[in-house]
Amino acid sequence: MATEALRLEGIDTYYGDSHVLHGLGFTLQAGRLLGLLGRNGAGKTTCMSTIMGFLKPRNGQVALFGEPVAGLMPETIARKGICLVPQGRRVFRSLTVEENLMVAGLPAKNGGGRPWNLDRVFELFPRLKERHAQVAGSLSGGEQQMLAIGRALMGNPRVLLMDEPSEGLAPQIVTEVGRTIAQLKAEGLSIVLVEQNIKLTLNLADDIVIINTGRVAFSGRADEVQIDSPIVAQHLGVF
Ligand SMILES: Nc1ncnc2c1ncn2[C@@H]1O[C@H](COP(=O)(O)OP(=O)(O)OP(=O)(O)O)[C@@H](O)[C@H]1O
Ligand SMILES: [Mg+2]
Repeated sequence: MATEALRLEGIDTYYGDSHVLHGLGFTLQAGRLLGLLGRNGAGKTTCMSTIMGFLKPRNGQVALFGEPVAGLMPETIARKGICLVPQGRRVFRSLTVEENLMVAGLPAKNGGGRPWNLDRVFELFPRLKERHAQVAGSLSGGEQQMLAIGRALMGNPRVLLMDEPSEGLAPQIVTEVGRTIAQLKAEGLSIVLVEQNIKLTLNLADDIVIINTGRVAFSGRADEVQIDSPIVAQHLGVF
């Protein structure tokens, strides 16, 4: 039987009285890539924040390889092996590339394969190695995105969450980021990719979940979804 890397069940998340996620649930199988799609404001980032423990769900469960993690501190959840590439990159602009990576380091977990460290991140992103002593604020958008991905990998994730890694990047950089994501998946990492770039997501994902106003509107295999299908027009098309 396939191993469940991450399972969300019946998640209700609020900001104060504002109810944003309504009984949200989906499952990421180990070694697969799940594309999480939805319009602006659908609740994608809220979902990532709930998984990471930045927001506590009022109801529902989050399980990491079968172990319940909802309600734990973000630091504990990260140590258990869920790492996030945050929307908008959020690198420390006044720290160097190397410092940004070093402060994100967490020990490798059992069964996690070859551990991530500075050398391995520099192997994946030679451009970051060249710029290791440069402050992150002076990097290009694409380089900052690579650094944000590198920071998440330094946490030695068992499940990697990526929140809109293609946002605001030039087309050829999006292609480059896409290649990196494909490489991480090929190495066996379990990934949730949050995107508004439908084409990129359909190219990379095994499974697709579409959320609309905090509810799952579609869940299925990526090869069941075509870019011109009614489900895409209904839930992701512009108004
Ligand atoms: N800190 C907050 N306080 C109150 N409401 C919030 C907060 N953050 C987000 N929301 C609301 O929650 C809903 C979901 O927002 P969220 O950021 O999760 O959407 P998203 O799918 O990530 O959108 P985008 O594609 O624009 O990043 C929106 O209605 C938003 O206005
Ligand atoms: Mg978002």
